[in-house]
Amino acid sequence: MSTIDWENLSFGYMKTDFNVRSYFKDGKWSTPQETTSESIDIHMAATCLHYGQEAFEGLKAFRGKDGKARIFRMRENALRMQSSCRGILMEELPIDIFEESVLKAVKLNEKYIPPYGSGASLYIRPLLIGTSPQVGVKPSKEYLFLVFVTPVGPYFKEGFKPTPLVILRSYDRAAPHGTGTYKIGGNYAASLVAGDKAHEMGYSAVLYLDPKEKKYIDEGGPANFFAIKDNTYITPASSSILPSITNMSLIQLAQDMGMKVERRPVKEEELSTFEEVGICGTAAVISPVERIDDVEENKSYQFVKDGIAGPISTQLYNKLRAIQNGDEADTHNWVTVL
Ligand code: PLP
Ligand code: COI
Repeated sequence: MSTIDWENLSFGYMKTDFNVRSYFKDGKWSTPQETTSESIDIHMAATCLHYGQEAFEGLKAFRGKDGKARIFRMRENALRMQSSCRGILMEELPIDIFEESVLKAVKLNEKYIPPYGSGASLYIRPLLIGTSPQVGVKPSKEYLFLVFVTPVGPYFKEGFKPTPLVILRSYDRAAPHGTGTYKIGGNYAASLVAGDKAHEMGYSAVLYLDPKEKKYIDEGGPANFFAIKDNTYITPASSSILPSITNMSLIQLAQDMGMKVERRPVKEEELSTFEEVGICGTAAVISPVERIDDVEENKSYQFVKDGIAGPISTQLYNKLRAIQNGDEADTHNWVTVL
């Protein structure tokens, strides 16, 4: 325990002491219970293994200067998991089971919440899977919901340093009327090949275009896209992206800062007009974008020349982190203090 090097954590799995589980069987959810086991024992014909009945979430707990732990926007993650359940016909997880499990998992693993000032946080990973056997393509009758936690550092190793993204036109992560708005494993499986290719080419992530016309910007790998122009925060409206809770929060913070907000289809060609560009998410926080290369079209859009993030992205990043850490008043009631 005392050997954890909090300042140098990467974004990966580290064993903690407990995870919390609840089972749906015979029409009801069991009370969330802790276990020390890192394994699950499921039927080989479980629907999660064959037909992708799997949804997950990602949220974080932060340690404040006052020593207290703060969980960011837990209710929004509970609601999004319900939307994922509806999207792939899984039993809808009640909000109280989600919240009770998250609180329990964080409290039981309190000692793994990184110290204030380390830059690290406790990543909370709720997971819901269909567990009963089906050989025909049908939804499961039984489900397992579990929450594990793990201390993490930055998702992109560069942290808040601007990095380049790449448009790979021959790959989509989601279909126009598919499952892109849900946080389900299948979307991430669909993104692995392109993501790997982008990394091999030296980019931190893929910037996906809309899968129908390849004209509009969708999102950046595991994070939503935003741009700053003329004191306006611009972010794509699209039916194939995940509604990011970080993005929703930045929209509010931008408004609080007196900026205008536009949520609308964003054409790729607009990239040449943007002052700042970033991608945002729980894991990524804000990852400023240095440059976007559309390799097949031989186009390149540069946003940062000196390696330093733009002033508005920096302000938004500092403001978001201050609320998450408890350094600034939580005026929107986003934080659950333990
Ligand atoms: N888009 C995708 C595809 C993601 O995986 C994530 C991560 O959760 C996000 C966007 C950002 O969402 P949030 O801010 O809710 O973490
Ligand atoms: C998150 O930001 O929480 C994510 O889930 C992104 C990625 C780790 C899947």
